[in-house]
Amino acid sequence: MKKIVTVFGTRPEAIKMAPVIKALEASPHFRCVVAVTAQHREMLDQVLDLFGIRPAYDLDIMRQGQTLFDITRRALTGLEGVLRKERPDMVLVHGDTTTTFAAALAAFYFQTPVGHVEAGLRTRNKYSPFPEEMNRHLTGVITDLHFAPTAGAKANLLAEGVAPEKIVVTGNTVIDAFLSTVRKEYAFEDPILKSVQDDRYRVILVTTHRRENLGEPLRQVYLALRDFVDRYPDVQVVFPVHRNPAVRKVVREVLGDLDRVHLVEPLPYLPFAHLIKHSYLVLTDSGGIQEEAPSLGKPVLVLRDTTERPEAVDAGTVLLVGTDRRRVFAAADTLLSDPEAYRRMAEAVNPYGDGQAAARIVQTLAHRFGLSPVAPQEFNAMKQQEFGVER
Ligand code: UD1
Ligand code: UDP
Repeated sequence: MKKIVTVFGTRPEAIKMAPVIKALEASPHFRCVVAVTAQHREMLDQVLDLFGIRPAYDLDIMRQGQTLFDITRRALTGLEGVLRKERPDMVLVHGDTTTTFAAALAAFYFQTPVGHVEAGLRTRNKYSPFPEEMNRHLTGVITDLHFAPTAGAKANLLAEGVAPEKIVVTGNTVIDAFLSTVRKEYAFEDPILKSVQDDRYRVILVTTHRRENLGEPLRQVYLALRDFVDRYPDVQVVFPVHRNPAVRKVVREVLGDLDRVHLVEPLPYLPFAHLIKHSYLVLTDSGGIQEEAPSLGKPVLVLRDTTERPEAVDAGTVLLVGTDRRRVFAAADTLLSDPEAYRRMAEAVNPYGDGQAAARIVQTLAHRFGLSPVAPQEFNAMKQQEFGVER
């Protein structure tokens, strides 16, 4: 058996690594050791609980208002101890957080091979998103096996000189996690969330957290929210507010007093997935949500100026609107008032996955370690379009 240490620290990494951990645990070829930095605390624990993941190591590094220096330093130091003890055959990391980069660096210092899940996303803008664009570059340079979610991500890596045999297109594991979660029965108990099932209202789901949007850009977005809640009496906004104090401050200042804007705590993934299902429209600067919502035919307005996820923009399921108050309002206004514009976005196909990404990752690992003769078929979004996606 080969030993794989998976390292992650934040909510989205946990959601996207959960299917991989489950698939590794189900495989006869691997022993999977989970190490969390806990760069997030409550938001990470919500995911660990839902998927029943019990980390062997929990570095518990989160501090209120932590800096990038804090996270990097504390994660790297903690992971030294983990890897010294475990001496794994491979370290698996995910995406582009500071935990991801620190874990790849720690593995490199032990000369341990690195597998990178959700590899190859790029904006080519060093500071946007910050620090994620650089985190994924730096991780990519250290990586031995790149699990690219899309053909576009693979093309990015090839353009940087990565050898083709080191890249496998798998689809995004977020679709595995999302489809399995949204298929579960769920009844809202919270009275605010129950009201989203009331057909008299159209629900707009909002989340924001990107570091480069903190301060004035977020204020502009929230003012646009005020504008369209004023304009449309049938609109309810549900806004699970990220725990970052810098986000909360502006949210409270601009949106604290509106009846039809419901500010709630970050939701566990099960109710959150069902909230997407009951939404009319999603406004977000999140990476994961713009991959999930289109698989249920929900249009997404992306509150960012750059994107490393051009596939959904090209497919027409998401629109990049930035953070300017008038532009955000105009885009939401169109979708709220023009059924044809809404239908065009809602019917576009999700290019991100078919729910089999984790299986492909584990089959690839077994094949590359010489434990299985079978290499998986790569994910092909065109094929998915032929057969249609689940709605
Ligand atoms: C981090 C990642 C970002 C990812 C995002 C997902 C970095 C630098 N940033 O950003 O790439 O997209 O997670 O959400 O890796 N906090 C809590 N409880 C929690 C989580 C956060 O209180 O469970 C508060 C703390 O005060 C913390 C602050 O939020 O200091 C910011 O957390 P941090 O992980 O530094 O940044 P995020 O914006 O969450
Ligand atoms: N999410 C959640 N509860 C919430 C908000 C988001 O479970 O209240 C999930 C969401 O479905 C997605 C992930 O968290 O899978 C996205 O996390 P986030 O936006 O924090 O990070 P990003 O994807 O931008 O890195």
